[in-house]
Amino acid sequence: MQKVYIYKGFERFWHWSQAALIFFLALTGFEVHGSFSLFGYEQAVESHRFAAWMLLTLIAFSIFWHFTTGEWKQYIPTFSKLQAQIRYYTLGIFKGEPHPTRKSVRNKLNPLQALTYLGFKLVMAPLLVITGLVYMYYRSIDANDMVIVSDIPLNVIAFLHTLGAYLILMFAIIHIYMTTTGETPTSNIKAMLTGYENLEEDEPEENLYESEFSDIPKK
Ligand code: HEM
Repeated sequence: MQKVYIYKGFERFWHWSQAALIFFLALTGFEVHGSFSLFGYEQAVESHRFAAWMLLTLIAFSIFWHFTTGEWKQYIPTFSKLQAQIRYYTLGIFKGEPHPTRKSVRNKLNPLQALTYLGFKLVMAPLLVITGLVYMYYRSIDANDMVIVSDIPLNVIAFLHTLGAYLILMFAIIHIYMTTTGETPTSNIKAMLTGYENLEEDEPEENLYESEFSDIPKK
């Protein structure tokens, strides 16, 4: 095994601040929904809106980062080993079989991860962001008589937004479980905190470090 710098500074900052914001948005959002009382309704509404703007800012920076670094390519789904990966998580993992795919700097995500994270970025996040913004501006948009809102009642917007919230919570629970299936139960979480992960030693050096990521320090 060799220690490889796999998650860059911005990537780790983005990952953990996104996780914290989603957790806080779920907490305040479900209070607005009426599931429990914690901050008080008014405070929950205000905090939810504030955190939503922080998340939107973070999303804007992360989109910029993904495209300028070329990291967006990590999310292109590959189907060749998808079945093997599903078989591993449903059967092989319980028999102590080895992971069917190898991790490298260029290829950080296994086929199932790439597909799921792509769904997160292209379906779940836009569903929450779009319905959230329409929800936020429902009254002002309605005052201007824009067709979009007079055609869609507020309870439908609220339902779709809550559906997005349930989907993202399901994702978070499965995601946290999956992080424990690495080399040790905490190795993946440690990697996302420090940036470094132990990767297979017989992996050729050029597969671990791509030229487009030439600023990556070796350890
Ligand atoms: C950019 C992202 C988001 C925006 C713009 C947004 C916006 C809003 C708005 C405007 C409301 C109505 C309450 C209010 O007037 O403030 C609301 C409610 C809610 N939000 Fe969000 N939100 C976002 C992200 C999230 C996330 C990530 C979650 C959960 C993980 C979430 C869960 C909820 C829930 C459960 C409600 C209550 C829906 C209802 O029953 O009426 N939101 N959101």
